[in-house]
Amino acid sequence: TTQNYAQFKNALIASNCDRCELHKGRTHIVVDRGNPEARLMLIGEGPGENEDKQGKAFVGRAGQLMDELFLEIGLDTNRDTLIANVVKCRPPENRAPHQEEAKTCIVFLKHQIALVKPKVILLLGATALKHLVPAKTKFSMSDEAGKFFTVSEFPETLLMVLYHPAYLLYDARKITPMREHLLRLHD
Ligand code: URA
Repeated sequence: TTQNYAQFKNALIASNCDRCELHKGRTHIVVDRGNPEARLMLIGEGPGENEDKQGKAFVGRAGQLMDELFLEIGLDTNRDTLIANVVKCRPPENRAPHQEEAKTCIVFLKHQIALVKPKVILLLGATALKHLVPAKTKFSMSDEAGKFFTVSEFPETLLMVLYHPAYLLYDARKITPMREHLLRLHD
């Protein structure tokens, strides 16, 4: 995995991709953070300002909170997870990626999933759910969060939706259910 994954990552960065509009505002193509040998993959929405500056996923305030919550259940996100996003370039003002941007970029995410072959994928927030599982059209995050499910596209992988850590910063009352959802990873 490591070698193929590193090749994929280096090639994507070197490509200077301009397949969608998001390339215009970026500093770095943000491919991931963490360990491509991990059995757990976390998928967010797209880079924010800190991620764009540093070229790594989830290194801002949301990422710090996420790291703390995973550490509580004994997981080091850099060692035990690979973190990626639906889009790899920062959207202006951190808006959600447009449908065509997500559609263009998700081929790279799917390549990452194919290389990593995670046991479990955690979809962080509605954007990740919407684009990874397009068959789910109408959903509410409070109904979806915390439940394992499978999809035919990734037959070997269990999926779970979680609240996006940036949402937890905005509504701290969701941290308690988030902790309960994370504990299900131990079953
Ligand atoms: N929010 C995301 O969805 N992804 C990041 O990498 C950082 C913040």
